[in-house]
Amino acid sequence: MEPANIPTTFVLWAMYIVIVVPIMAENHCKVTSDKADCSHLELNAIPSDLPLTIKMLDLSHNRLKSLPAANLSSYDKLEHLDVGYNTLHILETALCQQLPLLKILNLQHNEFSKIPIKAFLSCTGLVELRINANGIKEINGNPFENLQSLHILDVSHNKMTSTALGDKKQLSNLSELLYSHNMIKELKKEDFMFLGNNSVQKLDLSSNPVKEIQEDCFQQLTNLHTLTMANMTLESKLTEDLCSQLAGTQIQVLVLLNSQLKKIHNATFKGLNSTSLISLDISNNMLSEIDNNSFIYLHHLRNLNLEENQVSHLTSRAFYGLSNLTHLNLKKFFSSTKNPKIDDLSFQWLQHLQYLNMEQNKKIELSEYTFTGLISLTNLSLSGCTFPTITSKTFSSLSNSSLISLNLTKTDITKVESRAFYGLEHLEVLDLGINQIDQDLTGKEFEGLHSIRQIYLSYNKHLNLASNSLCNITTLEKLNLRKTALTLGSNSPFNCLINLTYLDLGNNNIANLEEDIFSGLHKLRILSLQHNNLARLWKKANPGGPVLFLKGLQNLEILDLFSNGFDEIPAEAFKGLSNLTILNLGENNVYILPPSLLEAQGSLTELDLHKNLITSVEESIFKNVFSKLKNLSMGNNPFDCTCESIAWFADWLNTTNTSVPGRDSQYICNTPNNYHGVLVEKFDNLPCKDHAPFKALFILSFTITTSLMVLVLLLHFQGWRIKFFWSVLENKILGFKEIDPGDQNFEYDAYIIHAKEDMPWIDCYLLPLEEDEKSNFTFCYEARDFEGGVSPLQLIVNSIKKSRKIIFVITHNFLNDQWCKRFKIQHALQQAIEQSRDSIVLLFLEDIPDYKLNYSIHLRRGMFKSQCILEWPVQKERIKAFQEKLKTALGSSSVVN
Ligand SMILES: *[C@@H]1O[C@H](CO)[C@@H](O)[C@H](O)[C@H]1NC(C)=O
Ligand SMILES: *[C@@H]1O[C@H](CO)[C@@H](O)[C@H](O)[C@H]1NC(C)=O
Ligand SMILES: *[C@@H]1O[C@H](CO)[C@@H](O)[C@H](O)[C@H]1NC(C)=O
Ligand SMILES: *[C@@H]1O[C@H](CO)[C@@H](O)[C@H](O)[C@H]1NC(C)=O
Ligand SMILES: *[C@@H]1O[C@H](CO)[C@@H](O)[C@H](O)[C@H]1NC(C)=O
Ligand SMILES: *[C@@H]1O[C@H](CO)[C@@H](O)[C@H](O)[C@H]1NC(C)=O
Ligand SMILES: *[C@@H]1O[C@H](CO)[C@@H](O)[C@H](O)[C@H]1NC(C)=O
Ligand SMILES: *[C@@H]1O[C@H](CO)[C@@H](O)[C@H](O)[C@H]1NC(C)=O
Ligand SMILES: *[C@@H]1O[C@H](CO)[C@@H](O)[C@H](O)[C@H]1NC(C)=O
Repeated sequence: MEPANIPTTFVLWAMYIVIVVPIMAENHCKVTSDKADCSHLELNAIPSDLPLTIKMLDLSHNRLKSLPAANLSSYDKLEHLDVGYNTLHILETALCQQLPLLKILNLQHNEFSKIPIKAFLSCTGLVELRINANGIKEINGNPFENLQSLHILDVSHNKMTSTALGDKKQLSNLSELLYSHNMIKELKKEDFMFLGNNSVQKLDLSSNPVKEIQEDCFQQLTNLHTLTMANMTLESKLTEDLCSQLAGTQIQVLVLLNSQLKKIHNATFKGLNSTSLISLDISNNMLSEIDNNSFIYLHHLRNLNLEENQVSHLTSRAFYGLSNLTHLNLKKFFSSTKNPKIDDLSFQWLQHLQYLNMEQNKKIELSEYTFTGLISLTNLSLSGCTFPTITSKTFSSLSNSSLISLNLTKTDITKVESRAFYGLEHLEVLDLGINQIDQDLTGKEFEGLHSIRQIYLSYNKHLNLASNSLCNITTLEKLNLRKTALTLGSNSPFNCLINLTYLDLGNNNIANLEEDIFSGLHKLRILSLQHNNLARLWKKANPGGPVLFLKGLQNLEILDLFSNGFDEIPAEAFKGLSNLTILNLGENNVYILPPSLLEAQGSLTELDLHKNLITSVEESIFKNVFSKLKNLSMGNNPFDCTCESIAWFADWLNTTNTSVPGRDSQYICNTPNNYHGVLVEKFDNLPCKDHAPFKALFILSFTITTSLMVLVLLLHFQGWRIKFFWSVLENKILGFKEIDPGDQNFEYDAYIIHAKEDMPWIDCYLLPLEEDEKSNFTFCYEARDFEGGVSPLQLIVNSIKKSRKIIFVITHNFLNDQWCKRFKIQHALQQAIEQSRDSIVLLFLEDIPDYKLNYSIHLRRGMFKSQCILEWPVQKERIKAFQEKLKTALGSSSVVN
């Protein structure tokens, strides 16, 4: 390398380091409008090339050790800075100076074990500050003094032993103060004295080892609205103290979750008498006893959460005084070991209760008076309790209540007796799913449910429906009967449900449905028949033909026929379902769809045909259906990747906007061998397109060949006819003069062509006709009329010309007579053609088959009018008739028409 090049190399390296390296380091931040997300990038420094106008910068989860104010100064529009999860321990006073608009600063999970006194000196605009999880032990001095705008201060997950955050009044606008997970043992008046203005509304003291709650500790918190003290060891004594200290506050929400409160005495909440507590959470407390009159001080309480406790006896006056309660959570409230007892009329005080959750109380028993007095109750859930039999007494205490929803799932019910829900005339939703019900439903079970809209009976042991089982609950809109080993009577139990919009009959192994099973369900919009056994109903071979069981469902929108073993689908299967939008035929054995099957389903947007036996997806069948689809699922079919079967589909897949999930994993060719295992999408269409000219060529050559064959065959078998008519036509067109039968130019009525051997017959039977007075025929008969001396050829030609008709006397001899064959017949025919006359009469003296006639003299019977073909009768009696016929033939017109 030449020495002169060294500076150039150096400059290039320098440029690389200055320009390229920072860009490489920073170009991973996600910048959207005024936000930059640089989290999780292992950054050591603040990126310098972000848009200067960003308002939010997320630098969390990096490796920042410091936060140089100078490096942030260019982003002076920042309002929100998140530097959580780094290893910061120093905060420059200048930070807030450089970022005058900063409102939210998140410093959580760093290493500020001490807060520098001047750290937030300039942060007067800060609204939210999070310094949780930093290992802070105590606050020295008054670092938050200048945070006059602060609303939220989070100092949770530190190691503080006191709530004191300063020794002067400050934070006059603070409303939320979070202390959870510290080591605070005492709540003291002095430790809250730093709160300037009684502005705090939310206080979280959870997970602190509080052992003492001193007099007037909440003096600076009189506006307290929500106090959370979860995960503590308050027990009864401290709880009582706490409530006393809350007496002077505005407390509305008190959370005492998991606070080791084992017993509620009638004095526990006494201190809350003067407050307006609205919500109380005492869940997860291993509570075993609640004294009578314990809640008398909570007149305003609306929400009481007692979930997960161990109460074994609910006394009749425990809830006394909770007259404003609307929501009561007693889920897992009762002891799971002892047999818990609920006193009659225990709930009578709760006149405003609307929601009662008593789920998962395995061992409770209901009496005729358990729920008496719950006049406002709308929702009751007993899911997960145990009630083997529902009798008319089980819910009699709720009769005439305003109950709207009753949830009895997973309650081990085996039988629902008559009138079990009688009196629940406002009930709209009844959930009896996931039980062990095994019975014939007669209709009496649901008597009295005048407003019922939905009954959920899915997942039960066995249900049998007769034709009127559901006919007293015609308000029903949704009915779930999935997996109930359902059996149906011969008449449809559904047809009286005129307002039904949803019916689930899935997983029932149903193998038979009558054609009119759904015919009354004009409002049905969703029908699920998945996992049944309906294949036979649609087979052509089904006795009586396919059963079109979807008849009458004109408003159906969603139809699920998943996994029914269908292999055939009748073309009319979906007739009338004009509003169908979603059709699921997945996991059947369908291999071909009738082309017109989905013709009327103009609104179909989702089609599922996955895992069938479809090999070919042809344009003619699928184009129209696919054109409107938003979603297609057709994967896992054994596609045949040949031009005819798949070319169009591969092309469609490649270009469509329709969503086709699994397009690049489930659409795989099965055949032919060279495509086995290849994605349909990857099917090479090019050879198919090249086929087009070949195809045309093939069609053309095929057409020509067949035409030629037909022509040859035609000529072979019908050639004579064509020739004859062609000649006639030609003569007509060329305009040979018409010679009229009435024309007197003819010397003879007929010229007779015959074999020598037949002369005796002519003498005997033909010539005598000349004697007939009426017809008065004259024949030209060689043996008699030809004069000697003239050339016989000339004679024949002349004679034929002079004859109006020509008679062929056809016998085997005639056919073998060379003279006749070679000359006379030819000439006679030629004349007939030239004159365009039908002048030939055939007299068959023997039985001559047509082919023989054709073979010897190239004539066929079909060329002549039937009246010009006469056969010599075997029976003597018929000779007379023969002669009459001959006369007619000779007298007939010779004009061809
Ligand atoms: C209480 O403790 C549990 C378990 O440690 C925790 O999941 C929950 O968040 C804590 N609740 C509060 C309010 O701190
Ligand atoms: C509280 O219970 C005690 C006995 O346990 C009883 O003497 C007192 O009258 C009760 N107070 C109220 C208000 O029910
Ligand atoms: C509750 O406080 C009211 C005054 O706010 C008082 O009249 C009433 O007697 C108190 N009730 C009890 C049970 O201490
Ligand atoms: C129910 O609450 C309202 C205000 O929320 C209050 O005025 C009323 O007195 C309470 N009812 C009872 C019986 O305490
Ligand atoms: C009944 O309760 C169970 C369990 O909480 C729940 O999953 C189900 O959705 C509820 N049924 C109704 C109809 O709300
Ligand atoms: C249906 O209701 C009528 C009158 O409300 C009652 O007579 C009949 O027994 C009920 N039928 C069934 C099956 O419950
Ligand atoms: C069916 O629904 C309509 C409209 O919501 C309602 O007017 C009618 O009363 C209902 N019929 C029955 C039998 O519930
Ligand atoms: C089909 O749907 C449309 C609108 O979604 C509705 O107006 C019509 O009544 C429905 N029923 C039939 C039979 O078209
Ligand atoms: C279709 O597939 C071919 C080959 O895989 C590809 O080159 C082409 O870009 C695709 N067309 C569209 C519209 O995706």
